[in-house]
Amino acid sequence: MAGDAPRKKAAPRKKPAAPGAPGNPAPLALYRKYRPASFAEVKGQEHVTEPLQQALRNGRVNHAYLFSGPRGCGKTSSARILARSLNCEQGPTPDPCGVCASCVALAPSGPGSIDVIEIDAASHGGVDDARDLRERAFYAPVSGRFKIYIIDEAHMVTSGGFNALLKLVEEPPPHLKFVFATTEPEKVIPTIRSRTHHYPFRLVPPAVLRELLEQILGTEGVSYEPAVLPLVVKAGAGSVRDSLSVLDQLLAGAGPEGLTYDRTVTLLGYSDDSLLDEMVDALASGDGAAVFGTVDRAVEGGHDPRRFAADLLDRLRDLIILAAVPGAGHSGLLDAPADRLERMAEQAGRFGQAELTRAAEIVSEGLIQMRGTTSPRLLLELMCAQVLLPAASTGEKALLARLERLEHQLAGGLRGQVEPASLPTRSPDVPGGTARQEGPGSPARSAPPGRAVPRADEAPRGEAEIQLREGPPARAGQQADSDARHEPATAPAAHADPGQQRGAAPLDADTLRERWPDILDTVRSERKVAWMLLNSASVQELRNGLLTIAFPSEGNARGFAASGHDQVLIGALAAMLGLNVRVRAVAGGPAAAGSRPVSSGGHGPAGGDLQHPPADAPPVQAGPAPGREGAGPSSAGRQGPDPVPSGPSAPGTSAPGTSTP
Ligand SMILES: Nc1ncnc2c1ncn2[C@@H]1O[C@H](COP(=O)(O)OP(=O)(O)OP(=O)(O)O)[C@@H](O)[C@H]1O
Ligand SMILES: [Mg+2]
Ligand SMILES: [Zn+2]
Repeated sequence: MAGDAPRKKAAPRKKPAAPGAPGNPAPLALYRKYRPASFAEVKGQEHVTEPLQQALRNGRVNHAYLFSGPRGCGKTSSARILARSLNCEQGPTPDPCGVCASCVALAPSGPGSIDVIEIDAASHGGVDDARDLRERAFYAPVSGRFKIYIIDEAHMVTSGGFNALLKLVEEPPPHLKFVFATTEPEKVIPTIRSRTHHYPFRLVPPAVLRELLEQILGTEGVSYEPAVLPLVVKAGAGSVRDSLSVLDQLLAGAGPEGLTYDRTVTLLGYSDDSLLDEMVDALASGDGAAVFGTVDRAVEGGHDPRRFAADLLDRLRDLIILAAVPGAGHSGLLDAPADRLERMAEQAGRFGQAELTRAAEIVSEGLIQMRGTTSPRLLLELMCAQVLLPAASTGEKALLARLERLEHQLAGGLRGQVEPASLPTRSPDVPGGTARQEGPGSPARSAPPGRAVPRADEAPRGEAEIQLREGPPARAGQQADSDARHEPATAPAAHADPGQQRGAAPLDADTLRERWPDILDTVRSERKVAWMLLNSASVQELRNGLLTIAFPSEGNARGFAASGHDQVLIGALAAMLGLNVRVRAVAGGPAAAGSRPVSSGGHGPAGGDLQHPPADAPPVQAGPAPGREGAGPSSAGRQGPDPVPSGPSAPGTSAPGTSTP
């Protein structure tokens, strides 16, 4: 990915060694090669293995055990180790000698013992199998001390099968031991379960997994970048077998340089740390251009927006922990190389806890909404917009986040950013829909390809907040599109400058302009969409009880009048200023090239007398703009579920200069 910050690579630990040199016979899968041979080698299950060993030491061995837990975390292995411990010539012992005939036979690579019978209940769980087992149970063991039945995948035993075994499990002959292993203990009928000692296995914690992986890589003599390990651990999700399988796959594809971070990230489909870094940095500094640029590059780079969001959430989680527990990296709460920890600590510091929590909540909610959506990119962008804009929400968390930002700014962290709340320019650019936001009146200003990225000079923090509060993002996005066809190019300038209008207060246009921010606040508390529309509008004239509001585009003006939003404004004016006026919405704010009143809505849903746009402007309600269909891979991801009005735009590849690396 061009533009990525150079990532420091940790030096390989071992000398490069080509794994699996040609000519070797097909190697055993790692998870078979490294099956634990003793309880000490069963990692992360000490809560089970220690009491078991103690029981062996005390000679208090039960006749039936139930090992339950997630897949690939050592149940079958432990059952075999238990069998080995029971039948060792020195046993029963917690530490099988490993050299006696029984130990050799029952070693992970050994041939097995006739007295230790493993039954795969998935294929042998029926009544007949159980009866057969029952009959054979009374024969004494051939060579060992005990006859041991390991009933694997015990949840697959039919209820008939269980019932056939019931008597046997309850009162087995003294030489008989049972070990049931299952991922679903609740499917083992209670009458059996209550006759067993139940040992619940757990997922293996990341730090333990990581250690095991390091150990195995060391034994294998493979070089690797340490940053690979957290990825494997994450992919394994606590299952040792899954982690080893992943590692196996990585080793199979590794070149002489061993395991590299880059290759691992691509192979496992994770989001590159550098992309996440950029995203987090951009969010922390409120740099909308960089945020949407990163989304663009992630998607262009083939990342699934959902995966990216999930990884972002993971990162936020790490930052939250770092913010709360500065030493988390060393105490094992976080699993990341030292240089990463440093970087993340710095990010956490810039974000602040309240803002981090809020961001994580937004992303987490967004992820839920992303399930099954057809436009995950849109949702991702909306999420980002929400994170960028605590000002758009009056919730407690958002207020906290704003406070935190102010504190940061006071502490010298002001990076040339203007707090959204005080932005004189209220640009309702909508990131999720930028591709279709080229409003009428700007045919010449066709967007650079893939203009998913607001320009840096568009006051990124002020953007995009509006429709987000109106409901679930997907809907909100559509709503924003249909209710408000903003004109990003003209919007930023289309505002009265409150600073210019100082003066006392006869109720004229100037006064209104001065009070405009307050008026907007009141409108916002009433109806977000109305506020959103008004954000890009300005007071043009107040004469004879008729207030003329200029919008940057005809679509906005019409949207404002047609949906009764003007009533909200009228209400606000009456409540705040005691003003009783009619409102007229026109297109062509001060920012547009010359006032161009194309609509004149009175109060109420008065779309009827709206004029049509001039011939040189594209129709407001046009279908997909020419060039949108198939304009590029990114356009598909960016489209909302429905076709939306659009001006000429050309979404496509990332526009150089619009994204800030
Ligand atoms: N706790 C562990 N410590 C070390 N290695 C483990 C552990 N758990 C699993 N493994 C590795 O995973 C492989 C499979 O483990 P095992 O068969 O014991 O899992 P299981 O819990 O029985 O899984 P399943 O529920 O899928 O049958 C082992 O050969 C070993 O390489
Ligand atoms: Mg198993
Ligand atoms: Zn032995």
